[in-house]
Amino acid sequence: MKKELTIGLIGFGCVGFGLYEILNQSRLIDARIKRIVVKDRYKRREIGQENFSFSVSDILEDEEINVVVELIDDSEQAFEMVKKAFAAGKDVVSANKKMIAEHLDELLELAEENEVSFLYEGAVGGSIPILRNLEEYYNNDTLTSLEGIVNGTTNYILTKSNSGIGYDEALAEAQKLGFAESNPTLDVDGYDSKYKLSILLKHAFGLTVQPKSLFNLGIRHVSDHAVSYAREKGYRIKLFSRAEKLGDKVVGFVAPHFVKSDHFAFGVNDEFNAVVLQGLFSDQQLFLGKGAGSHPTASAVLSDISALKFNYKYEYRKSESNGEVEFSNDFFVKIYLESKYIEAINEVPFYHVDELFQSDHINYQTGWVKFSELKTFDFNHKEEVSLVVLPEPLRESIPSNKMANRPLLENLYT
Ligand code: HSE
Repeated sequence: MKKELTIGLIGFGCVGFGLYEILNQSRLIDARIKRIVVKDRYKRREIGQENFSFSVSDILEDEEINVVVELIDDSEQAFEMVKKAFAAGKDVVSANKKMIAEHLDELLELAEENEVSFLYEGAVGGSIPILRNLEEYYNNDTLTSLEGIVNGTTNYILTKSNSGIGYDEALAEAQKLGFAESNPTLDVDGYDSKYKLSILLKHAFGLTVQPKSLFNLGIRHVSDHAVSYAREKGYRIKLFSRAEKLGDKVVGFVAPHFVKSDHFAFGVNDEFNAVVLQGLFSDQQLFLGKGAGSHPTASAVLSDISALKFNYKYEYRKSESNGEVEFSNDFFVKIYLESKYIEAINEVPFYHVDELFQSDHINYQTGWVKFSELKTFDFNHKEEVSLVVLPEPLRESIPSNKMANRPLLENLYT
């Protein structure tokens, strides 16, 4: 049965204002914002001051409001507010990927206890309806892998690097356009992508994997040489969130990848996101759309609001049916590792080396490494090291004849 929706909106930043605009424009959705709560009383905003309240209890205690839309930045504050909204019997729509990734199971329990819906399509992939598709369309056995670009800011920066626009300038543009997080380290070091990956793992494979257990390497140290290496080989570099079934395990991580021209994500540019699913029988499918920005993200929030009209809830069927599948870091991955300092390369154990290059100012090595060992390095904080994953399938093991080949670079130039 359709229900009347009266919204209390918490937060009026880029997405909050976007939602306000499109709700006013879209006469198709019969929902109205009754109250908007913001933190900063003195900030200049796009609409008059009389539209705002400054206390969340104005929403929580208003019985007419049956939907809380939470669009604030601070994930811990958001967590407290969402719990209170559930306790007050209100459905919640959020786009707060960090909060959801870190607290999903607890939030789901509370939503169930209070018999309310909790929807968050806007948290992953911006305008792309990936969560609802994962929920509704794929059953547990048939989905084998998921990979793609789920951060608009980094894709924008990487795209601009192809036309010679530097990192700082591109990041400043992404901030101006409202794509970047207020702390852009979350974007550029791959944290935002891993919060999204954690949410995707739940909906794609039924797994709860805390973000702190997931490896994330961002794009800050993608070197000019890595970009020219990509150009020479006909690759492009994309920051991928990636998860797949490998044997009876599921593996996953976030890192820059070289992408071949026949990959669906190759031509995905600017703030566009793309998720490529691989199914046992469906083969590859691409979900593409704007992954950041005011209206695209607000459109996903709007879609959740409209789903609430019909009391839609995610069912998490894969969590219930996934008996044996476990998350694992036990696999091999082929990487490109570059540094001015050979010691920095030699620190990482390679199980097989394919290419070695040494000069007085640049050294790199390509080959297979054990992911569980790679994961122990904090490459986001190793300024001097550039790591990019090569376009090869992940492997459970590598042939033992390859294991013998573990040469180390020698310091020929000092
Ligand atoms: N900072 C995020 C991005 C916003 O760039 O993708 C959308 O989640």
